[in-house]
Amino acid sequence: MNAVKGKVAIVTGAARGIGAATAGWLAREGATVIVTDVLHDAGTATAERIGRDEGRAAYLPLDVTDEAAWATVVTEVSRVHDGIDILVNNAGVNLSAGVLDVDLAAADRVLRVNLIGPWLGMRAVVPYMRARGGGAIVNVVSGAALTASPSPAYGASKWALRGLTYTAAQEFGPSGIRVNAVHPGAIRTDMAAMAGRAVAAAFEVVTPSRRLGTPDEAAAVIGFLSSDAAAFVNGADVVIDGGFLTGSPMVAITALKDTGCGQVLDSTREVRP
Ligand code: NAI
Repeated sequence: MNAVKGKVAIVTGAARGIGAATAGWLAREGATVIVTDVLHDAGTATAERIGRDEGRAAYLPLDVTDEAAWATVVTEVSRVHDGIDILVNNAGVNLSAGVLDVDLAAADRVLRVNLIGPWLGMRAVVPYMRARGGGAIVNVVSGAALTASPSPAYGASKWALRGLTYTAAQEFGPSGIRVNAVHPGAIRTDMAAMAGRAVAAAFEVVTPSRRLGTPDEAAAVIGFLSSDAAAFVNGADVVIDGGFLTGSPMVAITALKDTGCGQVLDSTREVRP
């Protein structure tokens, strides 16, 4: 559709999962993609695969919590590619521990990666986007930003990132920069696999689409919001969850009861990233 053709995009946490799929989508649609991550071997391999099979891509190391590293990346990207049009703040980490049990240093790290990381990213790229006359930022948030989460550090980080997205849409909109939030439900990645097979099986039962999503399905929505096809979409919350959040606890209880709750929780179905 040519809506990102010739644009320069930075994707964080793009070595694998939703980030890698998004980098591939953008490259296939004609953008030059900078794959960034803390997993250097996997990130390099992803950029090489995209460069071979899908379009233009390069890898740069980037820990999103490191402000100096952001400065290095945006300076380098702008020098080589003459500007920055798209930022996908995708990198994220989860942590399963209750409000009282959670190790505060670990919770602080989750907040740094999931909230301060995207914040630093926006601070780093916006001057380049303003110089260009506009741009698009997509923050990969979560369904955990729309409801309670059993992982409070994760949930708090994502609720805050959702709020930051609204503020950024207000602040940067007059400069032609759109900032949107996507809220994936259960998507088949390494992060989802960490929750275990029983959780994945339960998600399949209570999700109206009766399955988990794929990274490519999330990438297509993120790519659309990054593109000129979404030129008047700004500050939106876009849910990618097969209908999961349309349900209520009663719907979930009924679905689990109808399929046999014990059977679901004993399921041996595998979660393949
Ligand atoms: P993933 O674990 O497969 O990929 C996350 C990537 O982020 C990894 O490559 C990892 O190395 C990178 N990363 C972690 N810390 C980093 C840091 N400090 N700096 C740079 N990169 C870092 O996870 P997945 O599922 O692809 O998640 C992508 C985003 O989607 C995350 O923000 C996650 O919270 C969000 N999400 C995922 C859902 C799912 O079901 N998979 C559901 C809702 C939201």
